[in-house]
Amino acid sequence: MDERAIGVFDSGLGGLTTVKRLMELLPGEDIIYLGDTGRVPYGSRSRETIIKYTCQAAEFLSSFDIKTMVIACNTASTCAYEILERSYDIPIYEVVSAPVETAIATTKNNKIGVIGTAATIKSGAYEIAIKSRKSEIAVFSEACPLFVPLVENGRYASDDVAALAIAEDYLLPIRQSGADTLILGCTHYPLLRDVISKIMGENVELIDSGAQTAKLVADDLLKKNMLSYEKIKGTIKYFVTDSTEGFSDFASRYLESNIYGMVEQIVLE
Ligand code: DGL
Repeated sequence: MDERAIGVFDSGLGGLTTVKRLMELLPGEDIIYLGDTGRVPYGSRSRETIIKYTCQAAEFLSSFDIKTMVIACNTASTCAYEILERSYDIPIYEVVSAPVETAIATTKNNKIGVIGTAATIKSGAYEIAIKSRKSEIAVFSEACPLFVPLVENGRYASDDVAALAIAEDYLLPIRQSGADTLILGCTHYPLLRDVISKIMGENVELIDSGAQTAKLVADDLLKKNMLSYEKIKGTIKYFVTDSTEGFSDFASRYLESNIYGMVEQIVLE
């Protein structure tokens, strides 16, 4: 048993899709969430900058007594996971491996689409992870750089004209590839699930990278005997690097729980 908290990090709001699933699977765990909302999006920045920001975020989270860290950001995972893994002696989870396993188990025609930020797609991490597990799978990757700003600005409803037009344009090549499985390789994208699903059609399975990782974390902590003693409800504390208002509004709505007063603005350096 381990009473320490789980640290979760994302560049902004997207990591809350992972937190929501973690809270469902592990309601008794304490969570410390950091969203670098003052510097989002990371995905169009250079690898060096993403590594620098991610290391600062990890340093902040590790100033608390945490038992594990979940990098709930594909962009940060693909650029900085190895560095963090070497730097800390607690288990660190990235968000690429779990959705890859699920996508491979899901595809029937051996064609997997991957969408993510420019940095994630440029890293080739998904393609490498899929091919190294099953080389006969064809991978079709597309960067969708405007998806994160859409989500951060609340433009993700299934009838949002801007979101639909942008998604139509980004997703066309993957639709044409005939992929039957699409990895949402960014933790912001589940918020656009209805939009993406409308464009891709209901026969394409959408795989949520954060939710898949939450499941892996839950299974792994149980296996390692690192879950906390059964509590009815764990506590959760949120830190952001921009003002707390927008984040509190969004998170309260999305998590269906009043989180006002649980969010603190900090400076990362
Ligand atoms: N949620 C982050 C990810 O999974 C968004 C990255 C960004 O800030 O561009 O990649």
